[in-house]
Amino acid sequence: MVARSPDPDRPQYHFTAPTGWLNDPNGLIALERNGKLEYHMFYQHNPSKAQWNNIHWGHAVSTNLVDWQDLPIALAPEAGPDESGCWSGYAVMDGQKLSLIYTGSRNYDPVTDFSDISICLAESEDWLHFTKHGCVLESPKDLDLIGFRDPIVWRESDGWRMNIGAGFRDPKRGGAVLSYTSSDLKHWTYLGVLASHDAKSHDPIWTGSVWECPQLMCFENGHALTISRWFERRGYGVVALSGIYKAEHFEISGGHELDAGDAFYAAQSFQEPNGRWMMIGWMPETRPIPRQLEAGWSGVMSLPRVLHLGKNGLLEQTPAPELEILRGQGWKQHNLLLEGRKALDVFGTALEIRAVFNLMNALRVGLIVRASPDGLEETRIVYDVLSRQLSINRSDSSLNPETAHDQKSIKLDFTGSLELRLFLDASTLEVFAHGRSISTRIYPCRSDSLGVLALAEGGQAVLESFEAWQMRSIWEKS
Ligand code: FRU
Repeated sequence: MVARSPDPDRPQYHFTAPTGWLNDPNGLIALERNGKLEYHMFYQHNPSKAQWNNIHWGHAVSTNLVDWQDLPIALAPEAGPDESGCWSGYAVMDGQKLSLIYTGSRNYDPVTDFSDISICLAESEDWLHFTKHGCVLESPKDLDLIGFRDPIVWRESDGWRMNIGAGFRDPKRGGAVLSYTSSDLKHWTYLGVLASHDAKSHDPIWTGSVWECPQLMCFENGHALTISRWFERRGYGVVALSGIYKAEHFEISGGHELDAGDAFYAAQSFQEPNGRWMMIGWMPETRPIPRQLEAGWSGVMSLPRVLHLGKNGLLEQTPAPELEILRGQGWKQHNLLLEGRKALDVFGTALEIRAVFNLMNALRVGLIVRASPDGLEETRIVYDVLSRQLSINRSDSSLNPETAHDQKSIKLDFTGSLELRLFLDASTLEVFAHGRSISTRIYPCRSDSLGVLALAEGGQAVLESFEAWQMRSIWEKS
């Protein structure tokens, strides 16, 4: 695996682009070659600058979802329907060919953020070099849309289906998914609106004015539709909608934020041959653009997550079990009585931590990571018993005032012990608890901000079990 530039904020076991900019995961697919599974991941990529512009499709491959090998860039913008950028899309196997169906952007205007969009097709026999076939579907002129992008394609018994993210100009109709069908991936027929939601309504949840990267998933016990909320040129996280899918229509009955952090967007999912649904999202930077340009890289892929449809249509996530192969040196503790803060003699910037707490009579319980010895820098992950909220508190995460310092919280629903699972990797922090997640970025400044502590406030709690592992790097040393 090609080395990544040395930078204390650059993750060691998360995927980042070799250089420059990265946003959405694209074309996630598990393929079988000579009886072995290989995972292909494409991604929105500007190889020449750590800034969103002139978007290509980067390409990487893995046999275990953890170690990635860089492959040559799969798609680059060129004169024609994708001359302003090869935006997001999906990959399917069409016989022996790997086909990419993506969003072509042309005449992009940075002032209005609008461009002429068409859905494009590219194919490859060797899954490495792609031949473009140009536009296969123009954006519909008669629907009065303010957004149309990010196709997801799959096969049904009677042919191909494609869902495309959209937004109606009329806010009453709001964000939407449009459905199409085809027999050859080249000629598409409009089927209608799969789902849409009033852009101002908060019932069951606010979904913005354009739905980016929508994905309909079929589980054994029902369906879920994930969308990335877009509103006035900004993303507002991923929402999972629950509902009934029947006759090319998804009737929304509920919804929740899939991840409560500010670093999980444009998530894409894929189903493995064994039926397991996996998801990866984009973890954008939360430090200022000049710092990103200086660093020469921007954007991280989240760790792969396994999806389950839980009770009440809740889409639950757990980190992929494959991540265990990253574990190196480990620490263990059992039944530690907590009252106040307790240093755990664990240090690091690339750690996995599992902690199980008996809450007893404490009011707040949690973990602290990236703590400096004097506590001036630290990131607190705290569960508040009365509000049932789990938060990542970043008020002291960095002495650099330019980085995000706000708190991100999610309501947890569980009985018994509190189970936390943390993945810390330089500037990334992903917290999983009882099927929910919070993904954020942190940028500690001090080289001694390495400590891990446990905490119980307002009473006592017991840390029933604590395990931590140093995680290995997935990159060659430079
Ligand atoms: C989501 C998104 C997509 C678009 C792509 C462009 O982050 O805005 O809707 O296709 O990024 O890079």
